[in-house]
Amino acid sequence: MQKSKVGLVGLGVMGQNLTLNMENKGYSVSVYNRTPSKIEEFAQGNAKNKKIKPTYSLEEFMASLERPRRIILLVKAGQPVDDFIEKIIPLMDKGDLIIDGGNSFFKDTIRRNKYLEDKGFLYIGTGISGGEEGALKGPAIMPGGQEEAYKLVQDLFEKISAKTQDNKPCVSYIGPHGAGHYVKMIHNGIEYGDMQLIGECVWTLKKALGLSSEEIAEIIQEWNSQDDVLSSYLIEITADSMKEKVKDKNHSHSLVDVVADITRMKGTGTWTVQSALELLVPIPTITAAVFSREMSQDKDLRLQLSKKLPSYQEQNEKSNKEILIKIAHDALYLAKLSSYAQGMALLQAASKEYQFNLNLKNIVEGWRAGCIIRAQFLDEITKVYQDNPDLLSLLVAPRFLNVVKNNLSKLASFIDLAHKAGVPIPAMDGSFDYILQLGSPTMVSAQVAAIQRDYFGAHGYFKLKSLNNPEMILNKDKQWKEFHTQWMLPGRPEEEWS
Ligand code: 2AM
Repeated sequence: MQKSKVGLVGLGVMGQNLTLNMENKGYSVSVYNRTPSKIEEFAQGNAKNKKIKPTYSLEEFMASLERPRRIILLVKAGQPVDDFIEKIIPLMDKGDLIIDGGNSFFKDTIRRNKYLEDKGFLYIGTGISGGEEGALKGPAIMPGGQEEAYKLVQDLFEKISAKTQDNKPCVSYIGPHGAGHYVKMIHNGIEYGDMQLIGECVWTLKKALGLSSEEIAEIIQEWNSQDDVLSSYLIEITADSMKEKVKDKNHSHSLVDVVADITRMKGTGTWTVQSALELLVPIPTITAAVFSREMSQDKDLRLQLSKKLPSYQEQNEKSNKEILIKIAHDALYLAKLSSYAQGMALLQAASKEYQFNLNLKNIVEGWRAGCIIRAQFLDEITKVYQDNPDLLSLLVAPRFLNVVKNNLSKLASFIDLAHKAGVPIPAMDGSFDYILQLGSPTMVSAQVAAIQRDYFGAHGYFKLKSLNNPEMILNKDKQWKEFHTQWMLPGRPEEEWS
């Protein structure tokens, strides 16, 4: 009997579509699912007359695979992955490879990788982005695991992945153990940020300019034109989805106006924020996006409190509509750039902390097609990291520094416009404040908090060299010299500066 090149476990829509994609690219696939009816349904449906072999037990599944076996797992993230690994282990031979293609938490992937490696098996944890359609037509793939393991699937992944306009496959080896799932997590965090920023922009245009959803859809569609810096999949689908209508009796409404203001989430955004907290890397835009989703889900609370809290709106002078739309466009671009700078900074920190040895250029290049954040903008970021892999911040890359300089006052104007119209824009605020904070050699807020801490808790503080020199005074070991004030000592003399 001819053995299959690949095995896939978990016939949800993603699993089915990925199977069809692999078969379409010339790979024979054995499939298995916990619920047998789904296997039968798939075999008799979309998989009919294709090189797809349905199997109804794990023993049959494993026996049908070419060795070393390549087993793609697409089951629900969490315990189901561990359960399946335990079931498959007794049937595996040394050198077989399990590929977890779900949205697993990267620390679980690090643990599973080690567990299986110790038993002589190979393991890849891979991000697969692009949703159901991506799985079928070509996703962006972010695999982490042993390099030896990647060699076993490199050809397969390159064939089934999305291709950029210059025909490069949207996949590269990301790094060891949890690196692939980490990068996918950050991809999703950045996606949260993009979505929130676009949403805040829409709300502001609506409220400050009094535009309808239909009119805003037209404006946003223009932002997706070929050479526009905002041109991206998310901008495209925002315009498209905002044109959708629903009708009741005699009226037609924009679907977006009818949809409940509740954004659910599955966890990757929250994980991104948790990781940022752990690694001490500020990502205010993405954090604001996650908090906003949480706030959106507090619908009952908002309904109750909105009856009590004042709604804030200043009488807004009707300014020139065209100019404001242009300001919104440029503000959104800078806010997005700031958010990506935050995401990339977190990737750099994680690369160090977990020895992922990430290649930022390859990662961004791999996001250029297939995935949700695909955008022209990523071509620019790819070039930035090609020129300078160790760049301190995206914001200071020569090609982006000009955007910061030119658009910062527009972002400020936009924020002002939104606030005066009473529109909450925490992600825009986060993006703006991130740039201002990074650009502050001296943060007065931190000076105030530093003496507060010393005052109430004797926690000590450091001192600047001079009012014109924001660097710190060093002690003889070249460390920051620590000071403490005797706050409680009555009549204490004025202290020396250094
Ligand atoms: P099912 O068809 O038996 O529900 C996506 O939901 C895929 O994950 C489906 O193939 C589903 O199998 C599988 N899945 C979800 N939870 C699972 C579990 N606890 N064990 C095995 N497979 C699971």
